[in-house]
Amino acid sequence: MPQRYYVTTPIYYVTDAPHIGHAYSTVTADALARWHRLLGEDVFFLTGTDEHGLKIMRAAEAKGVTPQALADDNAERYRSAWQLLEISNDDFIRTTDERHHTAVRTFLQAVYDHGDIELRTYEGLYCVACEAYYTEDEAPGGECPIHHRPLELLQEENYFFLLSRYEQRLLDWYEAHPEGVYPDSRRNEVLGFIKGGLQDISISRSSFDWGVTLPWDPKHVAWVWFDALPNYITAAGYGSDDERFRQWWPADTHLVGKDIIRFHAVYWPAMLMAAGLEPPRTVAAHGWLLVGGEKMSKTALNHIAPGDLVEEFGVDAVRHHFLRDVSFGPDGDFSYEGMVARYNSDLANNLGNLLSRVATVVDKKCGGIGPAPQDGSPLQAVAADSLAAATASWARPAPSEALESTWRLIREANAYLEANEPWKAEPGPDVDAVMGDALEALRIVALLASPAMPSACAEIWRRLGLSGRPDDEVLPAAAAWGGYPGGLPVEKGSPLFPRKKV
Ligand code: ME8
Ligand code: MG
Repeated sequence: MPQRYYVTTPIYYVTDAPHIGHAYSTVTADALARWHRLLGEDVFFLTGTDEHGLKIMRAAEAKGVTPQALADDNAERYRSAWQLLEISNDDFIRTTDERHHTAVRTFLQAVYDHGDIELRTYEGLYCVACEAYYTEDEAPGGECPIHHRPLELLQEENYFFLLSRYEQRLLDWYEAHPEGVYPDSRRNEVLGFIKGGLQDISISRSSFDWGVTLPWDPKHVAWVWFDALPNYITAAGYGSDDERFRQWWPADTHLVGKDIIRFHAVYWPAMLMAAGLEPPRTVAAHGWLLVGGEKMSKTALNHIAPGDLVEEFGVDAVRHHFLRDVSFGPDGDFSYEGMVARYNSDLANNLGNLLSRVATVVDKKCGGIGPAPQDGSPLQAVAADSLAAATASWARPAPSEALESTWRLIREANAYLEANEPWKAEPGPDVDAVMGDALEALRIVALLASPAMPSACAEIWRRLGLSGRPDDEVLPAAAAWGGYPGGLPVEKGSPLFPRKKV
C-alpha cells in the first residue's frame, strides 16, 4: 500500500477575485502535492471557496447581487486562476455545495450530542471582516487588530461551543505531537494562546440566514468558521463515505496563512475532538507576502492579480518565484524588480543557460545524439546530495531550501562544463563523457524541480529525448545517477527563459 498524503489550502472568501497572496498559498500546497506524488504516494489535494456568512452577504448587497450570484462568480474566478497556475487539486469544494451542508449538519449534531454546545445570550464587539467577536483586551480602542476597522456591538442569542473544556486536552495533544504546528514560532504562539485560557465561542447566528442551519434549531445558522473548517472533512467523505473518510482522515497538512492559525490550530482540533475525530497531523502556517511592506488587500492599490504575472513571466517562473523567493514562515516582500532579478539569475542564467549550452554542444560535437553519463562522475555525488537535501526540505516543508538544493546541482553542472570546456575540444570520448554527465544532471534537475515548474520541466525532459514526463516518474529511484540512457536525440529549441530587461 503506498503511503497517502492529504494536503489542503484555506478555502478563500468569495468576496472578490484571488490576488497573489492567495496564489502564494495555493502554489505552495500544489508543490507539496506534486512532490508527494513524485514520491509515489497516494495524494489528495483539496482547495475551494468559503461562501457563507455576513461578510459575503454584505459584499453581495454592496454589488446589488445575491450572495449566491457573487459566490458563483468569484468561485469561478478562483477556479480559473488555479487552472492558469497549473494547480493540480483533486477536488474543489464550495461551502454552498449540498454535500457540504449535509456534512456540516452531521458534524454539528455530533458535537451537540457530545454535550459541547449550549444556548446563551451574548453581547460583544464583532468584526465582520474576521467574522469573529473580540474582547476589549484583544481589540484596544474598539478597533479590529487585523483590519483596523471599528468593531460593531452585536447582541444575539447564540449557541456556544464549550471550547474552555478543551484547554488541557489541546495542551496534551501538542505535547504528544510536536509536529502539530509548523514552524516552531507558530507552535509557540498557539501554545501561548491556549495557556492564556480559552473562552467558549459563539458558533451560531440568528440575524441572517446565509449559512448552514443548525439541525436542532433551524432559526440559527452556523457561524461561518464552524461551517468553513469542516470543508476538510466533507471532501474526505465525512458522513457520506466512511471507508473513504477512514482512508483520508486525519489530513497530513493544512497549509494556511498566519492570520488563521488560531482557527486551525486551536478551534478546529477542539471541534474535531468534540466530534470524536482526530486533529490534523500538521498545521503549517506561512507568513505574509507583502507588497511595498504592506499586506495586500482588495482595497489596497497594491492588489496584483496572478494572471498579470503569468502573462509577463510565464506560469513556471511565477510558481518558482513564490516557492524560491519567500522562505516558509516569515513574511516575504514581493516586488517586480525582485522578480525580474530572480528570473534572470535562476532561470535565464542558471537553468536556461545550462540547457541551451548542453543542447548546442551535443548538436555540434555529438551529432545531436545525447551520450550516456559516466559512472563515478564528479556530478554524481552532487546529484545525490541535492536529492537528499531537497527531500528533507520538502518534508519540513521548506520549499525555498528544496529549490536552493536543486539549484546547487545546476550551478555545479555549469561549473563542470566551464572547467572542461567541451565546446573547445575535438569530438570524441572525452567530450561525450562530459556531455553525458551534463545531460544526466539536467535530467535529475527536471525531476527535482518539477513540483515547482511542471511544464518547464516536462519541456526539458522532452528536449533531452526522454519519453513521458518527469512527474510520471517515482523518486528516489528515478533520480539515481545513470538514468539517462544515452543515444537519444537532443533538441536545441529556443531559449526556455529569455532574459528580461531590468
Ligand atoms: O481567511 N500573503 O479566507 P481569505 C500570503 N475563508 N498569503 C495570503 C495573503 C498574503 N498577503 N493574503 C491572503 C479566509 N493569503 C477563510 C479561510 S479556511 C477553513 C477558511 C492567503 O480569503 C493565506 O493563506 O481571507 C491566508 O490564510 C488566506 O489567503 C486567507 O484567505
Ligand atoms: Mg482574510
